[in-house]
Amino acid sequence: MRQVLADPFNCRGEFSDASEQACAELEFARSGYEVLGAFRTPSLRNLQHTQPYMHKGQMFTLAEVLVHYNEAPLSMIGHNESKPLGLSALELMQLEAFLMTLAAPLETDEKWLRPPVGSPGSL
Ligand code: HEM
Repeated sequence: MRQVLADPFNCRGEFSDASEQACAELEFARSGYEVLGAFRTPSLRNLQHTQPYMHKGQMFTLAEVLVHYNEAPLSMIGHNESKPLGLSALELMQLEAFLMTLAAPLETDEKWLRPPVGSPGSL
């Protein structure tokens, strides 16, 4: 992040013709302790096809993820933004059922989902 903020080609840089209002992302960009242990928030679409979950794939089921949010344990590093939800077993099942409704086939043409010929993973 420090690199982006110092970059003369960023939104506020001398080579940019963007207005000051167009560069709000830079205003909110953070680095240091505040973002220690932070991860990009993933999409919750099509969760039935995207396990294992979390940045290391350390949770195999959605139920495990929801228990994690329900208990909101302390982070090993940094801090945990979430607080224990205190949901009942029934509410956890309802939340899981709701998340499963966020499903839809991809609109993307199949050819864009295949790795380029010659790259690792291509046939
Ligand atoms: C009850 C509310 C929430 C539910 C049901 C929920 C659900 C989920 C699920 C299912 C995942 C795993 C997605 C995957 O790996 O593909 C996830 C990851 C994540 N969620 Fe949430 N989430 C909730 C609240 C929040 C909040 C409030 C924040 C931010 C403050 C947040 C930030 C994140 C982040 C950063 C990850 C990625 C973590 C990692 O990669 O280890 N979530 N969430």
